[in-house]
Amino acid sequence: MTDGPIPAHGLPVVARAPGKCILFGEHAVVRGQPEILLAIDVYTQVAIRSSPEWALNGHAEPVAAHRYLQEAIRQLWPGAAPLNVTAVSRIPKGSGMGSSAAFVAGLSAAMGAANGGIDRATLAQQSFAIERNAQGVGSPGDTSAAAAGGYLTLNTEVGAVGEPLWTVESARERWVVRRIADPGWVWVVAYSGLPKDTGPKVRAVGERFSSPEGPELLRRFAEVANAGLRAMARDDGPDTGRLLEENQELLRQVGVSHPRLEALLEAARPSALGAKVTGAGGGGSIVALPKPGQETDLVRRLARAGAVPFAVGPAPRGVELI
Ligand code: PMV
Repeated sequence: MTDGPIPAHGLPVVARAPGKCILFGEHAVVRGQPEILLAIDVYTQVAIRSSPEWALNGHAEPVAAHRYLQEAIRQLWPGAAPLNVTAVSRIPKGSGMGSSAAFVAGLSAAMGAANGGIDRATLAQQSFAIERNAQGVGSPGDTSAAAAGGYLTLNTEVGAVGEPLWTVESARERWVVRRIADPGWVWVVAYSGLPKDTGPKVRAVGERFSSPEGPELLRRFAEVANAGLRAMARDDGPDTGRLLEENQELLRQVGVSHPRLEALLEAARPSALGAKVTGAGGGGSIVALPKPGQETDLVRRLARAGAVPFAVGPAPRGVELI
């Protein structure tokens, strides 16, 4: 079931949006290939209130340099009175856990409420446009997860399971976003502490996808993601874990792993059915599917290996006013 629209609300407005974790298909999704991800129960809260001048967390200086805020003002708040925007987040920045998408979806919901309310499909489209313009590249996966909550797929094979939520378009691509059932699993996301930079990574991988080997790589990414969806739908943890490993092999081939991330994948192995980099890579986080009953062991192993591990489940709802 989809949550309803964001209702109209006068200033001040406070919205809360979840982060995300990509299970299958990051990078290839930018070229319109399938992706599976979930909104996770770690949130960013964004408040807007009237202010004599524009401010971010009470300070005027950071406003001009904040690409996401600037893009949101340009698209959603043109010519309107200045605001003090306050953001409080439990999602580590640059971790691959969707901090920027949650900020953008929270801000879009707050501005949308102050502008008379907004339906969720429009919010998803606007949040994607803001993130994409600020970042220069990308897919609507992260922003759709922040908008919708739960488990989602983008462009999975025709006739795939799931309730269609909305379609998001860019000049080059079109993505059909669907909600799929929650398999009821706990995932462990472990932040390496190495920041990652999504734009340059997406551009570098894009060059690989444009090379002669690109079509075959994209086909294999798609095949693994569609197989992952089928494995999850039949509640098959071991097969899902094996497919996470196959996805990781493709991510290695397109150059987004890192020795530090490989060390975390190695540390996870004894307690995981499978693990991979999640998000843009080159830094950021890994995601692992724990062996049944070994969730705590897995978290301990990853902490011992120097990561910041989180046991996460799906955020049941997308962005909402609080
Ligand atoms: O690392 P993150 O959270 O920015 O995720 C990026 C996911 C990519 O597929 C690499 C890009 C995208 O916009 O889908």
